[in-house]
Amino acid sequence: MSKNIEGKVVVITGASSGLGESTARHLADLGAIVVLGARRKDRLDAIVKDITAKGGNALAVTIDVTKREQVDTLIQEAVKAYGKIDVLVNNAGIMPLSPFAALKVGEWEKMIDINIKGVLYGIAAALPVFTKAKSGHFINLSSVAGIKVFAPGGSVYSGTKFAVHAISEGLRMETRKDNIRVTILSPGAIDSELKQGTTDAVASQNVKDFYKNAIPADSIARAIAYAIEQPSDVEIDEIVVRPTVQDF
Ligand SMILES: NC(=O)c1ccc[n+]([C@@H]2O[C@H](COP(=O)([O-])OP(=O)(O)OC[C@H]3O[C@@H](n4cnc5c(N)ncnc54)[C@H](OP(=O)(O)O)[C@@H]3O)[C@@H](O)[C@H]2O)c1
Repeated sequence: MSKNIEGKVVVITGASSGLGESTARHLADLGAIVVLGARRKDRLDAIVKDITAKGGNALAVTIDVTKREQVDTLIQEAVKAYGKIDVLVNNAGIMPLSPFAALKVGEWEKMIDINIKGVLYGIAAALPVFTKAKSGHFINLSSVAGIKVFAPGGSVYSGTKFAVHAISEGLRMETRKDNIRVTILSPGAIDSELKQGTTDAVASQNVKDFYKNAIPADSIARAIAYAIEQPSDVEIDEIVVRPTVQDF
């Protein structure tokens, strides 16, 4: 249990695998009430079952973050069940990499819809709740690719993560008056399903090489717990977590 985490209601998008799942499990162990959103209901239900079997408190809400009304529903269901939300982890994301010349425009659009618009819909849904409560915490998942561009292959993904940085910094400046915290979390190579999303053959080999040194998802869960457990007048603005041996 952790004093500043116990009893907090933490909503996590993309909680059916990888970083989101690991974060839900870790925070539940620390006494948080976790509300898990993603598309794969069976995965969410299995995680909630595990957490509750261990005495934790968890709720699954099946949502697609590209649908604004479904993200609204996620936040509303959390408030309905627990009377408040304390933290929104905007984590859902995809990483189909390819060089521009491959013209995988459909994948560019999906990344923009999930990695950028999904985060914005999360902000739109939770901000009124946080503003009314004069308290709240957004934790937005960027990437080391949101700090540096990697090309060929990573330009559009980097674009979406640079956007998360810009949106988060502006959000921080606009919401500090309402005692709302904003944290940007930028992981390096972390073991998850993310690496499976690349369809381009050359980019796929680069991803394989990059993830040879990947570290487990609980490294990110611990960083998220660290940001949440600070006293309310302390905001952790940015965290970068890489495998020790990673250069990029
Ligand atoms: N792993 C890394 O190395 C790494 C590095 C830097 C940044 N990140 C960022 O970390 C975040 C989590 O990624 P991960 O590594 O944990 O990958 P992951 O294992 O593939 O998890 C991605 C999650 O996003 C959800 N998701 C995807 N599309 C969605 C949609 N339209 N609506 C709702 N949920 C959706 C997936 O659930 P469903 O398919 O069930 O919907 C899944 O739960 C992403 O934003 C990613 O960019 C990861």
